[in-house]
Amino acid sequence: MLLEDGARVGTDPVLRPAARWWRHVTEEAFGLDLVPSGTDRGSDRSTGQHVDFALAPDLPAGGYRLEVRPTAGRPEAVGSVAGSVRVDAADLAGAHAAAQTLRQLAGPAAYRRAAAAYSGSGIAPLELPAVRIEDHPRFEWRGVLLDVARHFLPKHDVLRFIDLAAAHRLNVLQLHLTDDQGWRMQVHRYPELTRTGAWRRESTVGTWRTGSGDGRPHGGFYTQDDLREIVAYARDRGVTVVPEIDVPGHVEAAVAAYPELGTRKDRQSVRTTWGISQDVLDPSEGSLAFFRHVLDEVLDVFDTPWIGLGGDEVPPTLWRESPRIVERARALGLLAPDGAPDVTQLHGWFIARLAEHVSAAGRRAVVWDEAMSPMLPRDVIVTSWRGYAQGAAALEAGYDVVMAPEQAVYLDHRASDHPLEPIPVGFLRTIEDVYAFDPLPAPLSAGFSPVQGPRTGRKSSTQRTVGRLLGAQAQVWSEHLDGARRVDYATYPRLAAFAEVVWSPRADREPGSAASKEFLERLERRHLPRLDAYGVEYRPVAGPHPWQTRPGVQGHPRDLAAETAVGGWAGLGGWREDGGVENLPEQDHPAQPDPG
Ligand code: ACM
Repeated sequence: MLLEDGARVGTDPVLRPAARWWRHVTEEAFGLDLVPSGTDRGSDRSTGQHVDFALAPDLPAGGYRLEVRPTAGRPEAVGSVAGSVRVDAADLAGAHAAAQTLRQLAGPAAYRRAAAAYSGSGIAPLELPAVRIEDHPRFEWRGVLLDVARHFLPKHDVLRFIDLAAAHRLNVLQLHLTDDQGWRMQVHRYPELTRTGAWRRESTVGTWRTGSGDGRPHGGFYTQDDLREIVAYARDRGVTVVPEIDVPGHVEAAVAAYPELGTRKDRQSVRTTWGISQDVLDPSEGSLAFFRHVLDEVLDVFDTPWIGLGGDEVPPTLWRESPRIVERARALGLLAPDGAPDVTQLHGWFIARLAEHVSAAGRRAVVWDEAMSPMLPRDVIVTSWRGYAQGAAALEAGYDVVMAPEQAVYLDHRASDHPLEPIPVGFLRTIEDVYAFDPLPAPLSAGFSPVQGPRTGRKSSTQRTVGRLLGAQAQVWSEHLDGARRVDYATYPRLAAFAEVVWSPRADREPGSAASKEFLERLERRHLPRLDAYGVEYRPVAGPHPWQTRPGVQGHPRDLAAETAVGGWAGLGGWREDGGVENLPEQDHPAQPDPG
């Protein structure tokens, strides 16, 4: 059907944000004036056309039914003027998903910001095929992490990232706001966090092992008004923003601002290199109070149910060297089996105290898997990144889990072994590899149901109480992504593959499978034109455009087979006493040839 000026858009009040969003993008792209008509579906239908968003509680959570119909008695063909669109949605999330489907059905032109005349043929009409679709998501947490700490992304780029994530029906954005290399959130009580901590002297270009400084200051931060806008913009698209304040490691920017937070107490500058820092928080009462205050402002700005506390990569080296901190571990009763004080437990202890603070505010903390300890409150959500085994263990221990294994869904990792792949780091993860991602592979799911469970702890088939597999999350870390164009390149089109995996039913998506081939074909024929119309500078399937390469900049590829052979489902990533991945032989991978 062709939708025309004056078509009425009615909605149940609960679904209004989704209907309004669809109206806006559609009006913009097709130059139409659609008429909101509230819930009054009996109102003037002079064009005979109406689009209705209605609640249908019988549908599964996040699901929708969508029907595009020509008016009765008229031919179904293109050109039938009157007609109707009916969206039945289980809830607002379902209406958002349906609205994205409506946009998809309208073709690539629907992803443009203005109605354009194509080759003299006039403005593209909004033409919707007659369809009936019923769909619902496999997982309730379909996430993507954006690291704005390593490289600051201006607010408009964050909004654009959200818009694109929503277009792929992802519904969680974890915003990694703090790290060694930068603090990005304005905190009124502690202004030095952004005055000092948001800026670094320079950035390392390429891997920290061989890279050199670019000699150019870098930084930026979001005001609380910026962040409130980001939250609202995301909400308008069905995306929940999960802020992440990473502690007690990855804190050099905060320590640069407030040296008393650090273990060494001496003034240091915001870190300019990548890699794991030894400079972790002093796990003192003072540090706890400081971060409780920070979290109070985070809780105020972000109305989300989930608050990220980080907890990854915390070397206890400096704690061990501090008699005061060793004594603190003893005083807190954090003891090894032989009765000696065990400073490594301060990591879990510190995170547990902050998680309780979040919980007392009626929210749930989210932590990386290293923060799991017997002290971690059961309401905390564990994000499994070093591998799959940590997530399976957390489920067994009764935690709700988001799977984000670096072996599969780190999109900053290299997309190919192409000789011109820009700054190739991490594991080789092609589009097909990402499409084959299974959040809980069969060998690990014995004893669990691999689908999301009910809202409370449940008994597995072996009668253990297990947590729920909430879903999965792709990560876009930005050490080597110094702007929106690089973020586009790393993220797309692989995020489209990830999005399909977390939305659609489980299937055999192994590279070479029928599903994988069909996806690749559909990606190239149907989806890349949408990304082109939107203006996404994705990585072409055949390899980078010449201007997307970074000649002469050294990466640090890792060998997935070698690491899996040693680390198994747990992987070798993160900080490890035995040096972990750093003990593996280096791959021979020269920097790209410099054509200049
Ligand atoms: C992580 O990649 N350090 C969570």
